[in-house]
Amino acid sequence: MILNLARRPGAFSRSGTILGAALALVAGAAAAADVQRGGALYSTHCSVCHGSNGTPVIPGAPNFRRMEGLMRPDMQLMTAIRSGKGAMPGYFGVLRDREILDVVAYLRTLS
Ligand code: HEC
Repeated sequence: MILNLARRPGAFSRSGTILGAALALVAGAAAAADVQRGGALYSTHCSVCHGSNGTPVIPGAPNFRRMEGLMRPDMQLMTAIRSGKGAMPGYFGVLRDREILDVVAYLRTLS
């Protein structure tokens, strides 16, 4: 395989480009979920009802320490947080989608 590549001029620089693109993708995915920023946003916007450590302080809110309400994909949680649910206000226009995903990543660290 390597020998075969070596016989084709330009093959190495092409694979270098692909490797660079792959690394950029990985870095982008890591940047998409900033748990630390999610935690800061959680304290500001969510802890008043969901408690500073995920134990709810109002009736009817899920207990994140027991993973209540979290057994679904990030995108579904984002939809619920954007539009609100029951006593929970919607965060559309308050938090960017990316910030909501950071908060969701943080929620997943609470259990
Ligand atoms: C005013 C109180 C309140 C605030 C503030 C609040 N929530 Fe909630 N949240 C609730 C309640 C109550 C529920 C349960 C809603 C229901 O199932 O009827 C809930 C449900 C949820 C759920 C489960 C959604 C689902 O589909 O079952 C998630 C996830 C969640 N909240 C995240 C957040 C995040 C993240 C924030 C901050 C950005 C936040 N909440 C702010 C009260 C609140």
